[in-house]
Amino acid sequence: MEMTSTLVTAETVKALRKRVKRWRDESNTVALVPTMGALHEGHLSLVDRARRKADRVVVSIFVNTKQFAEGEDLATYPQDLEGDLAKLKSRQVDLVFIPGSEEMYRPGFATSVHIAGPAAVGLEDKFRPHFFNGVAIVVAKLLIQAQCDYAIFGEKDYQQLKTINHMARDLDIPTQIIGAEIIREDDGLAMSSRNWYLSEAERARAPMLHEEMQAAAVALRAGADMDDVLKASRQRLKRAGFSVDYIEVRHANTLANLTGGADEPARLLAAVWLGTTRLIDNIAV
Ligand code: PAJ
Repeated sequence: MEMTSTLVTAETVKALRKRVKRWRDESNTVALVPTMGALHEGHLSLVDRARRKADRVVVSIFVNTKQFAEGEDLATYPQDLEGDLAKLKSRQVDLVFIPGSEEMYRPGFATSVHIAGPAAVGLEDKFRPHFFNGVAIVVAKLLIQAQCDYAIFGEKDYQQLKTINHMARDLDIPTQIIGAEIIREDDGLAMSSRNWYLSEAERARAPMLHEEMQAAAVALRAGADMDDVLKASRQRLKRAGFSVDYIEVRHANTLANLTGGADEPARLLAAVWLGTTRLIDNIAV
């Protein structure tokens, strides 16, 4: 374990557990914020949320190979450990867990977590078929490794949040899962590590996704026909140069299709491509 003036890092599960156990023996509550690094204000808002919720905050940084498919952006996924550690230090994080891939997936690793429910509703799962099993195994491991009271996840990855909630419940993992709201740039674009990939022209166009989703949500709340609204949104996005994986309204908790009942909480979710960059976003309806 290495110590700078205030930021402690751990690279092994053993070191992580030792530290967390000491805090818990002192009756401190502990919150975990799992990340893949390349940290921005969206991630740091989760840290702030963790800070408000618990006495101690642990952030993990691990680019999880298992949630990337062949041909996805694993090789180019942005990494900036030094910058990340500086940001975390300024946000008074108590411990940063940075396991190597051999620590997370020891040689001979042979276990998987298969999750359906909100992970099998035809949204992200349809376009990234093995994504949620990859997320599920690493998050299950992180929750078991850290044994924290709370774990914070962003609504930015809305289906992921619902999936993790479901998994933690199914597996009786005693960590309370907490969702945190989406942090956006001033122009409305949801912050994402992948925004780094956008060219200047793409970056200028990217906020249109959120604008379009807001307009659609307003129309839907006013009672417009859902199919008409979504069709028009899809067309406008296409005309603006986006390639649309999906833009759909679903039940805000189960992510199933709406049944038409009066008080169903609804969420509008979308995934689009701008050039070679995939953007996702969602908004309450
Ligand atoms: P990553 O993309 O690094 O995101 C880490 C956490 O930050 C996730 O819970 C994500 O929803 C949240 N987040 C990202 N952008 C946000 C924004 N603009 N506003 C609010 N929260 C935001 O998601 C992952 O990593 C991985 O799948 C992980 C859960 C760590 C498992 O490997």
